[in-house]
Amino acid sequence: SPQAIIAPSILSADFANLGAECSRIIGATANWLHIDIMDSHFVPNLTFGAPVVTKIRSHVERPKTVKGNGTFDCHMMIAEPKKWVKEFQKAGCDLYCFHYEAAVNSTAAESPFETTDRKTNPKELIRFIHESGMQAGIAIKPDTPVDVLWDILENPIEAEQPDMVLVMTVEPGFGGQKFQERCMPKVKALREKYPDLDIEVDGGVSLDTIDVAADAGANVIVAGTAVFGAQSPRDAIVKLREAVEK
Ligand code: DX5
Ligand code: ZN
Repeated sequence: SPQAIIAPSILSADFANLGAECSRIIGATANWLHIDIMDSHFVPNLTFGAPVVTKIRSHVERPKTVKGNGTFDCHMMIAEPKKWVKEFQKAGCDLYCFHYEAAVNSTAAESPFETTDRKTNPKELIRFIHESGMQAGIAIKPDTPVDVLWDILENPIEAEQPDMVLVMTVEPGFGGQKFQERCMPKVKALREKYPDLDIEVDGGVSLDTIDVAADAGANVIVAGTAVFGAQSPRDAIVKLREAVEK
């Protein structure tokens, strides 16, 4: 499978010192920064928006290659993923990962905001993200079957191909939850069909659960609590990487 990528989630960072936290964790050999964007519609929690991403971009050097070190992996837990594409590109996002569930069946129907794109086709959204100059990721929640992705992954149009699939291993919304092993068959099925695909796991990943995720075929590893809560974030990152590479 492809190269191991460790992407600490800054949701567990000290928000009062966010810039320093970001450069510290990149200095501790993290490959990417996983940036959790929540809108209190798609998930029952609020984090931060593009202005914060703009500010932390100046603390982490922009990657020199596609998906190189310093990539900002923005996990968009938002009801209207199309609406924020341009804004996040300008802010310094490199990989814009939206939720399949939001794209096909937007919870924005209940939103007080006026919008014209409550429903967006995932393929069109991937194309739009690419045309806006970013890599595109597509995420699925624990209860969403992997089968919804086959049609998207089998699509021969290159501009509409996702660059990464994120298989959530907790219900999105909060850090510090328990890893759900029941999601591993989805990772296995994706890896069997797509040996070179970047497959990310997110939620409850730690030194106790990494082997299960790595064995299933995940290569992009998000960890919030396990990295920021560790005595040595560097050791935690190194050990997570070793577990994927072994
Ligand atoms: C949850 C977020 C995760 C979270 C992971 O909604 O998408 O990225 O920060 O945190 P841990 O690793 O603590 O489960
Ligand atoms: Zn996340």
